[in-house]
Amino acid sequence: MEQKPTGVRIQAVRGTRDILPPESSKWLWMEGKLRDVLARFGYSEIRTPIFEYTELFNKGTGETTEIVQKQMYTFVDRGGRSVTLRPEGTPSVARALIEHGLLRRSKVMKLYYFGPMFRHDRPQAGRYRQFDQLGAELIGAPGPEGDVESVHLHVSLLRALGLKQFTVKVNSVGCPQCRPAYSNLIRETLGPRAAELCEDCVERLQKNPLRILDCKVESCRRIAATVPPITASLCPDCSRHYERLKVLLGSVGIEFEEDPGMVRGLDYYTRAAFEIHHGRLGAQSALGGGGRYDNLIAVYGGEPTPAVGFAAGLDRILLAVDEEGIRVPAGADVDAYVVAVGEATRDKCFSIAAWLREDHRVELDLGRRSLQSQMKAAASVGAKFAVIVGEDEMASGVLTVKDMTSGRQEKVPEVDVSGYLKRVLGK
Ligand code: HAM
Repeated sequence: MEQKPTGVRIQAVRGTRDILPPESSKWLWMEGKLRDVLARFGYSEIRTPIFEYTELFNKGTGETTEIVQKQMYTFVDRGGRSVTLRPEGTPSVARALIEHGLLRRSKVMKLYYFGPMFRHDRPQAGRYRQFDQLGAELIGAPGPEGDVESVHLHVSLLRALGLKQFTVKVNSVGCPQCRPAYSNLIRETLGPRAAELCEDCVERLQKNPLRILDCKVESCRRIAATVPPITASLCPDCSRHYERLKVLLGSVGIEFEEDPGMVRGLDYYTRAAFEIHHGRLGAQSALGGGGRYDNLIAVYGGEPTPAVGFAAGLDRILLAVDEEGIRVPAGADVDAYVVAVGEATRDKCFSIAAWLREDHRVELDLGRRSLQSQMKAAASVGAKFAVIVGEDEMASGVLTVKDMTSGRQEKVPEVDVSGYLKRVLGK
């Protein structure tokens, strides 16, 4: 059917954003820096689908989490299967490792991913319904050295961007051996005060008492502070792991705070949990977080395999870059702007620009503008040189090349212009 103008404006979905130039060049800058650090730590990229069968997140991220209970974009596809736009990347990585039999082939694997995640939460500064994460997963390393390498990687990524004003928080969330006793301790301590807890926490008291410790409701926070810290209830193995983690963090020069209330919002964590917060981002201050998840792969039926990792929120990292006033280099400058003097030279300019583009970043006028407007355009895109083509130049085959900074002009044979630009641009 013929499409007709309706005059109805369609806007981006609430909680999503367009990233436009020049903002988009900040993303390229950031991703380049982050990939360099990831390579130094020996990580390779994995790309998994953006949607998965819903049970992957129900089982892995966890039935008792806010993400699974309230935030997933879940729909039934045309084949009648329930699928979900990924709210996080870790379950997909675990699935892919099992699906491709990779757990058998290699002992330690280091994988990273970049990409959009989807959570239906209330949008606010630093919180979006579609946001980008960089995730890094270290598979097959059981000891605290793995945890420390993971924290160290996260810190190094932030440092590579020039960030300084962040704090590393660590905790242990125990293991299936020691956590049930601690959950009971929370129930015993808080049960008699259930009437003072928020509705969600009353439910958490039954299903997942640990999560009460990071409830944001002020009255719950006050009551939760009366519970003894989990670190006092760890089994000997978890306790040793945690003590060693702290020593090793010191050995790589990472300052940290212990935060017994930091229990993370996902169900799969065992032992080490960590988050990195920025001092100037307000309520949504977590730049990233992660921890150990030694049981997740087995939950999906894979060979039990220890693992630890984190994800960093890239939208928030860029907010932090702005807050710290870090100067991000602008996108690549234009090397040359090809300027047509008179209508008769337009086609010639078009072909000159085409071959100059094999080696240089080149712009030209596509709007039949006057000479004066073209020179203005050349200046406004930051062109370093103008290659000027008038009828004389066309006839003689010698072009005028103008240095836009000094204003100096030189005559350069057409065939030499590319080489000339290479020389003067130091390429
Ligand atoms: P997470 O703590 O849920 O962990 O998310 C990691 C980071 O993603 C957060 O610290 C935050 O920077 C960013 N983030 C989360 N939600 C939003 C949002 N709505 N808007 C903007 N940024 C957001 C995970 O996702 C785990 N998969 C991390 C992990 C990897 N654990 C082990 N391996």
